[in-house]
Amino acid sequence: MVSDSIVQVEGLSKHFGDVTAVDDLSFTVERGQVYGVLGPNGAGKSTTLRMMMGLERPSQGSVRLFGEPVTPGCAQLLRVGAIVEQACFVPHLSGMRNLRLWWEAGGADMRDADLDFALSVAGLDDAIDRKVKTYSQGMKQRLGFARALLCKPELLVLDEPTNGLDPGEIREIREMIGNLAESGATVLFSSHHLSEVEQVCSHLLVMQRGRRVTDGTVSETIGSTANRSVYLEVDDPERALTVLSGLAVVTEARRQGDGVLAELTDDAHRSDLAAALVAAGLRLETIMPTQQLEDAFLELLSRNEVAS
Ligand SMILES: Nc1ncnc2c1ncn2[C@@H]1O[C@H](COP(=O)(O)OP(=O)(O)OP(=O)(O)O)[C@@H](O)[C@H]1O
Ligand SMILES: [Mg+2]
Repeated sequence: MVSDSIVQVEGLSKHFGDVTAVDDLSFTVERGQVYGVLGPNGAGKSTTLRMMMGLERPSQGSVRLFGEPVTPGCAQLLRVGAIVEQACFVPHLSGMRNLRLWWEAGGADMRDADLDFALSVAGLDDAIDRKVKTYSQGMKQRLGFARALLCKPELLVLDEPTNGLDPGEIREIREMIGNLAESGATVLFSSHHLSEVEQVCSHLLVMQRGRRVTDGTVSETIGSTANRSVYLEVDDPERALTVLSGLAVVTEARRQGDGVLAELTDDAHRSDLAAALVAAGLRLETIMPTQQLEDAFLELLSRNEVAS
């Protein structure tokens, strides 16, 4: 059977002595998806990603990448860029020297690396020639991205790519993931940042204690909670209230602080609201869900606790 699945995980388990880190986990990632793996500490996210990359041997079950089973050092891994460990660099060498060193250590010729693409996505500009010890956390993470992108990967696997970064840096990483997805790459990443998963992912797997709690599109996951509300800021909130009240997908709109809170029907999209407000000549500064994914996530976890 021809399948376009990039990742197929089936019945995957990993035991460390008495600890079950991953427990009968199955999921599939299709080409072009931005797939988020979300779960609390110790849920088994890193262990799952490590098994996907052939860095850890499964106790049971299997991982296939591009249709073929994963084994340590297998050929499909050449089509995968990954940051699953803390990205380590030689501090007294420049970013560029570090990239070159790492690429050539694998026996490859730098002329075969997709350096322009990697550098354009990572956006380090002139800093690429500075010593890594002068880099901020965010810049080191960008260099990690550049390194993972040298092979122009079809799949990018990132374990908590925004861990330890400040809000500005987190936004930059999120934009980078968005740009990569637009360039046609499939991206799988784990995260604690629920809102970030919602903003950048098309699909989502929620894990707890090694098991799948739910998976599906982000809107399916959020849609399973009753309350859908959006906070927005515009240059004229009173007029926004009038516009929003006239939309069939808005059940209620009211002022909140400097902005407006709108309650939406199940089939509403934030883009519909944005389009209506812009069409009415309003300047839209902010539009975001109000902790919906967070609510959905916590609700799912507590339901799972009760069920198990
Ligand atoms: N090498 C190991 N030896 C023993 N136990 C391990 C090992 N690696 C992971 N574990 C255990 O497996 C469970 C899952 O760990 P894992 O690191 O995969 O979770 P995680 O979801 O990535 O957590 P975090 O959000 O904190 O990174 C934890 O209970 C952890 O202590
Ligand atoms: Mg982890």
